[in-house]
Amino acid sequence: MNALPTACEVRPAVELLRVDNLQTEFRVEEGVVRAVNGVSYTVDEREIVGIVGESGCGKSVSQLSVMQLVRNPGRIVGGEVWFEGHNLLKYRASSPQMREIRGAKISMIFQEPMTSLNPVLTIGRQLTESLELHLGMTKKEARARAAELLDSVGIPSAQSRLDDYPHQFSGGMRQRVMIAIGVACRPKMVIADEPTTALDCTTQAQLLELMLSSIEGCQGALVLVTHNLGVVARYAHRIYIMYAGRIVEQGLCRDIFYRPRHPYTIGLLKSVPRLDEERGRRLVPIDGTPPNLIDLPPTCAFLPRCAVAGERCRLEPWPELEPIDGEGHMARCYMMEATGE
Ligand SMILES: Nc1ncnc2c1ncn2[C@@H]1O[C@H](COP(=O)(O)OP(=O)(O)O)[C@@H](O)[C@H]1O
Ligand SMILES: [Mg+2]
Repeated sequence: MNALPTACEVRPAVELLRVDNLQTEFRVEEGVVRAVNGVSYTVDEREIVGIVGESGCGKSVSQLSVMQLVRNPGRIVGGEVWFEGHNLLKYRASSPQMREIRGAKISMIFQEPMTSLNPVLTIGRQLTESLELHLGMTKKEARARAAELLDSVGIPSAQSRLDDYPHQFSGGMRQRVMIAIGVACRPKMVIADEPTTALDCTTQAQLLELMLSSIEGCQGALVLVTHNLGVVARYAHRIYIMYAGRIVEQGLCRDIFYRPRHPYTIGLLKSVPRLDEERGRRLVPIDGTPPNLIDLPPTCAFLPRCAVAGERCRLEPWPELEPIDGEGHMARCYMMEATGE
C-alpha cells in the first residue's frame, strides 16, 4: 500500500502565505521563553502543509502569531507574515484589517471545540454571525446557508439543530460544527491545530477526510499542525518539522518520509506506525523530552537526545538550514553525512 498521497507529485504554485524569521517570546519570572525562534515557511494556494513536532516545540504559538492571537505575556518580537501581499504584523492585533483576516480569510480549527465555541450562543448564531458580517448575507440567507453547512459536515436534522447550544452536541459533533464554522466564509487558508488529537482513530480519520473535503470545496489551503507525523503523511504536500521553536527539517512529503536527514525527523518516523512497511515493526519512541525553552544554550537543542551527535555539535551554535536537494528539502544539522544514504 502506498502511504503517500498522489498530491505529493502535483504542487500548486501561487504563494499565499510567507512567514519570514518569525520570533515570539514569553517573558516570565524565570526568564525568556523563546517559543518561536526564527521560523520561516510558506504556504501556496490550495496547498496542504504539515507542521509537525512534539508537544511544546512552538507549533501553536507560531500559528497564533500569524493570526496575532498570542496572549500576554507573549509578544511577537521579530519577523514578517506576508499574506496576499500584506505584512500582517504591520497591523495592530485589534485593527479592522486583522479582524477581516481572522473573520474571513484565515480560519483556525482547534483541538478542543468547547474552548473555541461560545457556550452561550446557539450553533446557528455562531455560523450566521460571520456569514452576515463578512459575506453580507441577510439573516434569512445566512440561516439557510448555516443549515447547508451543518448538513455538509454530516450533522443530522441540521435545520432543527441550528437552535441548539454547543453543550447539546457530542464531542465528535462539536468537532464537525467547528469544521463548518471554519469553512463558512470560504477562507483562503485554514489552520487546523491538532484538530483531531482528542478523538479515537476512526473518528480522527473520518474528521480529517471531512475537513479536507470541506476545505477543498472552498478552494482553501490547509496548515495541518500535529505531533503525529503519521497523520500528515497521508495528506500534506510539504512538511515542516519543528523542534525547540525552530524548523529543523522541511521538504516535500516524500522526502521527509523516504529521505529524512535530521536525527529528530528520523526519530519521529521510528516512533509512528507506517502504512508502507511490514507489520510488526517495533515503534521506538525518542529518548528524553523536548527542552525547556527558557534560556536555551546556543548549541543544537536536540543534542542531549541525539544518537549521532559529534564534536562539532557540542562546540558550535546550531547550524542554519542547509539545502539537501533542489526541491526545497533542507535540514539544520552538522551530522547529515552520517544520516544520509
Ligand atoms: N502563556 C504562556 N506563558 C509562558 N510560556 C508559554 C505560554 N504559552 C506557551 N508557552 C511556551 O511556549 C512553548 C511553545 O508552546 P506551544 O506553541 O503551545 O507548543 P506546541 O503547540 O508545539 O505544543 C512551550 O514551551 C510553552 O511552555
Ligand atoms: Mg499546540
